[in-house]
Amino acid sequence: MANFCVVISTIMVALFLTSNDALPTADMNDTPYALTRNYTYVCDPSRFNDLGMDMSSFAYCDSSLPYGTRVKDLIDRMTLEEKVQQIGDTATGVPRIGLPKYEWWSEALHGVSNVGQWNSKASFFDDEIPGATSFPTPICTVASFNQSMWKMIGQAVSTEARAMYNLGHAGLTFWSPNINVVRDPRWGRALETPGEDPYVVGTYASSYVRGLQDVDGTENTTDLNSRPLKVAACCKHYAAYDVDAWLGIERYNFDAQVTEQDMAETFVKPFAMCVKQGDVSSVMCSYNKINGIPVCADRRLLKDVIRGQWDLHGLDLDCGNYYTNFANKAVVQGKIKEGDIDSALQNLYVVLMRLGYFDGSPQYETLTKDDICTDEHIELATEAAREGIVLLERRQHFTFDLRQCIPCKYTTPLDGFSASGNVQYEMGCDSVACNNDSLILPATQAAKQADATIVVVGLDLSCEAESLD
Ligand SMILES: *[C@@H]1O[C@H](CO)[C@@H](O)[C@H](O)[C@H]1NC(C)=O
Ligand SMILES: *[C@@H]1O[C@H](CO)[C@@H](O)[C@H](O)[C@H]1NC(C)=O
Ligand SMILES: *[C@@H]1O[C@H](CO)[C@@H](O)[C@H](O)[C@H]1NC(C)=O
Ligand SMILES: *[C@@H]1O[C@H](CO)[C@@H](O)[C@H](O)[C@H]1NC(C)=O
Repeated sequence: MANFCVVISTIMVALFLTSNDALPTADMNDTPYALTRNYTYVCDPSRFNDLGMDMSSFAYCDSSLPYGTRVKDLIDRMTLEEKVQQIGDTATGVPRIGLPKYEWWSEALHGVSNVGQWNSKASFFDDEIPGATSFPTPICTVASFNQSMWKMIGQAVSTEARAMYNLGHAGLTFWSPNINVVRDPRWGRALETPGEDPYVVGTYASSYVRGLQDVDGTENTTDLNSRPLKVAACCKHYAAYDVDAWLGIERYNFDAQVTEQDMAETFVKPFAMCVKQGDVSSVMCSYNKINGIPVCADRRLLKDVIRGQWDLHGLDLDCGNYYTNFANKAVVQGKIKEGDIDSALQNLYVVLMRLGYFDGSPQYETLTKDDICTDEHIELATEAAREGIVLLERRQHFTFDLRQCIPCKYTTPLDGFSASGNVQYEMGCDSVACNNDSLILPATQAAKQADATIVVVGLDLSCEAESLD
């Protein structure tokens, strides 16, 4: 779903209008959002050669040095104006020092999603790659209570993500999963989440994140600043968020009143598990306030808890253009320090180093279109649906999400049941809202003549979605 967000930061930006003067221009011959078609990583000597630059003069490309040293070299080469253009999700890059643009925003809630198609972001589909494996929505998959399957789904999704990255159809940083504990069933995003139980939510989060992020054989690396990443995941939205828009109450200014105990036991618990057990590489803060303080500006929740107590190795990024528009003047006027921006960039580029964005990832570079929508992945998605679908009093519950992923193929309930019996189908209602009841009588008549009746009912994104409680 759309994530209009601010990823956590220790930087506080004051409000100033500034002109966007002298923006660096991006690399030539780019695909829209990835590095380029020709190169999948930054420090490819032939790329520097094509740019007319000598790679050996850039220490940030020296793979014999530690990530921290290389990143410091990269940041020290940038002017303040250039630095500020790299702390929004659409980072412009700095062509003069060989740094290409990078779009941080890709999504993979239950399969790689098409966030780029309607939002100009990194993951998108087109004629070349028309779809990816669409796993059931998390609320369905989690009902399997099958932890090893949650991780396997993460692994399948990250394999497809890497293949899409190689083909210029995705970035390497995915703003998934959504792990808000659902306290209010009216919430439009409940289907995106692992549900209502903090422990199950945290277990799903750490399993799915490990599936997305872990590189085989390096799971136990103790230095978390160098541990390789297959793709980067993001646990969102921290915290106490489960209302979008309900009778004039809006997520952007909703003030959640939460006791200290409920905060610790319910709302924060899954995020702690995601960071400590899942080693997630970023956390996104939430839209709402908690007890009067906007979460994205709450030093205690962000700096003290996530970084201090949980030791997050993560990100400082604004999803949008607030920092990129205002941070420069804020530094000039002494409202923030340039060093704060340097620290944010340090965190950002270490993650890209861990992803192989600078040095390549040989084990994933051969992944291609054939690794997307494989029979094995489609069977795993089918198995997740089988295990997650809950049978209650013979009423079956299906969960579909049509906007988020473009699936490789559909098997509708009608297709499925028709394969094993003689099915007479009557629509019953022409939409989920069922405003027109003229189709109900024919359905009733068909039911009277049948040996068994299967009623397929439920919600879809026309009545349950982000911004639609
Ligand atoms: C990059 O690849 C495109 C084809 O995808 C090709 O037309 C172009 O010449 C290549 N550019 C360089 C500099 O190699
Ligand atoms: C969990 O899912 C995996 C993969 O689909 C499956 O092989 C395994 O049997 C499942 N475990 C249980 C207990 O159902
Ligand atoms: C990582 O540690 C776990 C638990 O000790 C172990 O089962 C696993 O084999 C280790 N993985 C590697 C690649 O060493
Ligand atoms: C209700 O559905 C029937 C059958 O599809 C259609 O003929 C009729 O025009 C619809 N009524 C309205 C008010 O849309």
